[in-house]
Amino acid sequence: MDGNGRWAKKRGLIRTKGHEKGVSIIEDLADYAFSRGVKYLSLFAFSTENWKRSSTEVNFLLGLLKNFIINNIARIKDKNIRLKVIGEREGLSPSLLKQIDQIETMSKDCTKGTICICFNYGGRAEILHAAKELSGKEITEESFKDALYFKDIPDPEIVIRTGGEHRISNFMIYEMAYSEIYFLNTLWPDFSNSDLDAVIADYMGTERRFGGVDQ
Ligand code: FPP
Repeated sequence: MDGNGRWAKKRGLIRTKGHEKGVSIIEDLADYAFSRGVKYLSLFAFSTENWKRSSTEVNFLLGLLKNFIINNIARIKDKNIRLKVIGEREGLSPSLLKQIDQIETMSKDCTKGTICICFNYGGRAEILHAAKELSGKEITEESFKDALYFKDIPDPEIVIRTGGEHRISNFMIYEMAYSEIYFLNTLWPDFSNSDLDAVIADYMGTERRFGGVDQ
């Protein structure tokens, strides 16, 4: 979800206003994605490297996660949506961890769609976590997948990076081995249902061969 800071700057606003707008589009976008048949929506909200930002911005983003959970906890079950927070737990406050546990437990059997909020997440940290967990045990592709944070989530078919940069920035680096990757110039707060439609339409025209050849 890149481009929040630039979206705010273009309007003469402070960076955090961009994050505020960025979080505000998630609920409608998720509803739309699930109505289109998407089953899993993973959003990169805070990376293991984002702690380097100013304490004001870091605290603001932590507060946004807290409010996002508070705003969704009452209705997530009625909407039949499962919510997971994926990433390192270290560094998050006990009260935030309690809220994360509460919403994950409450929504665990919901089936319409799954939203993964990747928070304090880094692809390399995830791979190291899996390697440590498997130390001394047999390592297979299956056991490795089972030791990742995304263990019960299928690999992404589509990865979208907004904000004009052409890099992956440590997001799902293990899982996106065969994903179709879309780099959009749109800044995240401007990302709309029609942007998602355009990506899905393009994706429907691709053939995924997973290393094989055309039949
Ligand atoms: C990158 O844009 C965005 C982030 C580091 C944070 C994304 C977070 C949200 C959309 C809100 C948090 C969401 C939840 C659910 C807690 P940037 O700040 O690097 O923008 P820039 O590249 O334009 O400066």
